[in-house]
Amino acid sequence: MEKEAADVYSQENVVEKWEFFHTTKYGLKTDTLEKAVLNKLMKKLGSVTDLLEVGCGTGHFTRWFESLGLNCCGFDLSHLMLKKAKSLSPHIQSIQGDASLLPFKDKSFDVVAYTKCLEFIPDIAKALREGVRVARKGMLLGLMNGWSFREIRRNIILDMGWTPFFKHVKSYSILEIWHVMRKTFYNKHTKIYWSTTVFPKTFLFVPESSLLPLGSFLGVAVRLKES
Ligand SMILES: C[S@@+](CC[C@H](N)C(=O)[O-])C[C@H]1O[C@@H](n2cnc3c(N)ncnc32)[C@H](O)[C@@H]1O
Repeated sequence: MEKEAADVYSQENVVEKWEFFHTTKYGLKTDTLEKAVLNKLMKKLGSVTDLLEVGCGTGHFTRWFESLGLNCCGFDLSHLMLKKAKSLSPHIQSIQGDASLLPFKDKSFDVVAYTKCLEFIPDIAKALREGVRVARKGMLLGLMNGWSFREIRRNIILDMGWTPFFKHVKSYSILEIWHVMRKTFYNKHTKIYWSTTVFPKTFLFVPESSLLPLGSFLGVAVRLKES
């Protein structure tokens, strides 16, 4: 099933749709909130100079990381997504491959980031273990939150068979992520920081980011032990 999820991004129309999404009103709004959370969490990892973005897709977040002054490398399974990334930012290094086998030496980057990518990966424990191996300071995760109202809506839409899109995507709650991390590299991480954002309009008070675990976007920073 997960192979099908990754295959979605090997279709020309999906590549264009993904890039277009960021230009829509909703896309722009959520983007600002998501980046604010990632930025806040990244500061927990200490001073960062270089970053590998695994599952970088069209490079949307890679370009943003670069705008923060980081030396970035994008990595993705899909040739088509990388082709688009290259056309939008030719100077950013981009490498094709699978997240579960990163072609980098141990501790090659300060931070290894995954933005909306782990949801498509069959064995996230394996992928995260690779991330830990390659990271010096920590990992930064941006995920579709499994505990959000948006997730309930997505499940209803899928159950009704209204759209097959995102059928093969697995979202995660902070508890699930915490369990995966505990199981896979407990001795290596020192601390997990997290926050969620993108709350429904129907909330009386809508925080921009919060430890309330119900926002559609879940950001997680994992600070690794210095060795
Ligand atoms: C929803 S897109 C997100 C792209 C980008 N991070 C962003 O937020 O704009 C998911 C990306 O994960 C990539 N991907 C899925 N499985 C992967 C794997 N096993 N290894 C590397 N990349 C993968 C897909 O090709 C796709 O480009």
